[in-house]
Amino acid sequence: MRFLPSLALAILALPSFGFAQGSAGDIHKVKHDYQSDVARLRKIVVNSLYSNRDIFLRELISNANDALEKLRIVALTEKDVWDGASPLNVTIKTILSKNSWNVSDTGIGMNAEELTVNLGTLAKSGTSDFVSKVERQEGGVNGNLIGAFGLGFYSSFLVADKVTVVSIPPKSPKNPNPTQNVFSSSADESSFEIYSDPRGNTLGHGTEITLDLKSDASDYLHTPNLIKLIHQHSSFSTSFPIYVWDEVEEVPLEDDASEVGIDTPEDEEEAVVEDANPTDSALKTKKVVVGKWEHINSQPPLWMRDPKTVSDEEYELLYQATFKDFRKPLAWSHFTGDSGSGVSFRAIVYIPSHIDEAFLTKPLESNAKDVRLLVKHVFITSDLGEYSLPKWASWVRVIIDAEDLPLNVSRETLQSSAFLKQIRGIVIRRLIQLFTKIAEEDDDKFAEIQKVYRTILKLGAAEDEKNRQKIASLVRFSTNQRNSTSLDDYIKNKKQGQKQACTASMIFYLADMGKSISHLTGSVFVEKLDARGYEVLLLNEPLDEILVQTLRTWKGFKFQDVAKAGLVFGDGEHLNTDEDREVMAALEKKYAPLLAWLKAEAGEVVRDVVLSDRLVISPCAVVADTTGLTANVQKLMSASNRGGERDELIQEMMKRQKVLEVNPRSPLIQGLLHRVEQIIDDDEGKDRDLEELREVASILIDGALVRSGFDVADSNQFLSRVDRVLRRSLGVSETAPTDETVKPAPPIDPEIPEMIPEDGEQHNFSPPDWIDEEQFKIEVEEIDEQGNVVHDEL
Ligand SMILES: *[C@@H]1O[C@H](CO)[C@@H](O)[C@H](O)[C@H]1NC(C)=O
Ligand SMILES: *[C@@H]1O[C@H](CO)[C@@H](O)[C@H](O)[C@H]1NC(C)=O
Ligand SMILES: *[C@@H]1O[C@H](CO)[C@@H](O)[C@H](O)[C@H]1NC(C)=O
Ligand SMILES: *[C@@H]1O[C@H](CO)[C@@H](O)[C@H](O)[C@H]1NC(C)=O
Ligand SMILES: [Mg+2]
Repeated sequence: MRFLPSLALAILALPSFGFAQGSAGDIHKVKHDYQSDVARLRKIVVNSLYSNRDIFLRELISNANDALEKLRIVALTEKDVWDGASPLNVTIKTILSKNSWNVSDTGIGMNAEELTVNLGTLAKSGTSDFVSKVERQEGGVNGNLIGAFGLGFYSSFLVADKVTVVSIPPKSPKNPNPTQNVFSSSADESSFEIYSDPRGNTLGHGTEITLDLKSDASDYLHTPNLIKLIHQHSSFSTSFPIYVWDEVEEVPLEDDASEVGIDTPEDEEEAVVEDANPTDSALKTKKVVVGKWEHINSQPPLWMRDPKTVSDEEYELLYQATFKDFRKPLAWSHFTGDSGSGVSFRAIVYIPSHIDEAFLTKPLESNAKDVRLLVKHVFITSDLGEYSLPKWASWVRVIIDAEDLPLNVSRETLQSSAFLKQIRGIVIRRLIQLFTKIAEEDDDKFAEIQKVYRTILKLGAAEDEKNRQKIASLVRFSTNQRNSTSLDDYIKNKKQGQKQACTASMIFYLADMGKSISHLTGSVFVEKLDARGYEVLLLNEPLDEILVQTLRTWKGFKFQDVAKAGLVFGDGEHLNTDEDREVMAALEKKYAPLLAWLKAEAGEVVRDVVLSDRLVISPCAVVADTTGLTANVQKLMSASNRGGERDELIQEMMKRQKVLEVNPRSPLIQGLLHRVEQIIDDDEGKDRDLEELREVASILIDGALVRSGFDVADSNQFLSRVDRVLRRSLGVSETAPTDETVKPAPPIDPEIPEMIPEDGEQHNFSPPDWIDEEQFKIEVEEIDEQGNVVHDEL
């Protein structure tokens, strides 16, 4: 059986859990200590949320909602737990005489062990870290965060000195005679008691929480206050009916006493009539207390209303209560539709204002869990199984309420429903429309969207073949001219004849993963384009180049990698006149000795050395052949392909595809030419000069590799050459030794220290709290000084 993660009450096996059940009549109370984190958490909640105490109400109602939803879902497969007819509801009753307050639900209930685990420990992973983080934080904690972590129950101690929870699970084949149990705890105790309820089963199934209110919390006893608060904070926490017991003192007309209760509203479930004052005199006014259950959330759910009548704040509150996310959504779309398979529905698609770290780390492994499918307002599932949303959009949050499906569908029976298969398409279409509308109409909002979804939209465009064009229109890139441009805007900004060798029109790009935009702007590959006023897309995210390669063209424009050899502009600049060609031929003749010499020097690294037409300031650059691999692609390849024989092959392949371009206008290159000519003239007379020159050339070549984003083959050698050149320029002897004496380590100490951490929680270092620790352990590898992974020998 599958439960929704958010509903599943994780059952932990407690290390020292012993529960003794009392025999009838003799109440055997078992005392348990709170897990230390719970004690800390209760303290935090009580201290930091004191000024915002109202939230306890919302939290309790939200928990009741979860218990009711869970009962409904379990009942789909275990018919015995619920007959499908008896009402599922939340009831709240103030008991003035006792200064206390009861909130009950007729949901799934808990047995003794579940009471202990759910209320006495922090079962949800990450909560422990959450607690310590909050403790360190000066400003206290945001109330909504508590709810998001499923810790809402502890907020009852904000208003209560003592909290009693009575709970009983429904009858089931596994548990035909459930017992009703009591959990009881005072606000200032570090322990709680669990015992079986001496009254037996009074609830049927479900949970009843009694709060003995603090003396300063008597406001909550006032029913109108209570109803107002529920409307303010909790109207979206559940779609199950909430009833509040409302008592009013009425002064009936003397001769009309028998008609008491007649004017109670239609919702009346029961009416209690009691005498407030025993009548001593028939002439005195008789006061009568009339009580009734008032259904306080009888309005249809928000998504059933006309969007024109719903305020932004209502949409936000619904989002926060439904998805237990304390931040407001960025945008939403509320719509109705007809699925074509005969199912009409209403839906709200929300774009959250932040994305889980888990998604960002492993986007293609996350599953959508926030598409809430309802049938006639009743929650059915948020697990669409194989018809789940595409991975790139698994973060979207949706409420979709279908009219015409049978109410008793479960996810399993839904598999055969055509509607389930259509949800994905419906949601994605809406989501893209929403993004597009914002992109067209609201620049500020779209800037916010870009902050969160920039990479995700690229992922979508690369992954979602069907919607590729639409999503790619939403993608924004940085360029050498502006922070953010769409592909369409790039094309509008193209120069006349921006073509590659007069064939296809071109979009220029430079990709170098992980580099900053300013670094890319200063790249040797961009410098001439930039100087001439061309716009170049600067791609520095891993997905960028993948996306460009996937798209291949945009509205007929080819993507042109400016780091590849043979870049020409097609605007007449490139050697189109005889004069240009003559100039170039003259330069080539002049530089021939240098090119030949450099080619011999750089033969290990590049296939050829040529004069450059692309460089303006830089002395040289390494470019990939038109068909070759750019530095960025090499990085991607070597990252996915460590070690093995293929490495050498790839090295060889890479070398053959690289060309060293030198800039004839750079004084450095002119100087180098001069020296090379001298050396050749000198007939190799001076070995030492030659050695020095080769060193300079080697630095120049390696420098060009780095400048172009490639790795240097041997960075140690590269740096010791630089070191020697530095010494020369400083006039320091090249052979002068460095004092290498160091203080040796102390002698061997064979003793093993006795201190061993008491419990498993004392890691040497703790991962961020969004990481599942179990998973984390698997991924940590020990690394030696050279950066190689150390494997334990088996
Ligand atoms: C709430 O549900 C219970 C059990 O299903 C039912 O007995 C009770 O009458 C309901 N309360 C109200 C106020 O409708
Ligand atoms: C409130 O709950 C307590 C504990 O279950 C119970 O004893 C009491 O009768 C309830 N009061 C009302 C008015 O329902
Ligand atoms: C759902 O209920 C209808 C009638 O109420 C019944 O015919 C059908 O078999 C039920 N389906 C499931 C899956 O229980
Ligand atoms: C680009 O962004 C930076 C920082 O976000 C901003 O300071 C700068 O003004 C922006 N430049 C343009 C051209 O919009
Ligand atoms: Mg909760």
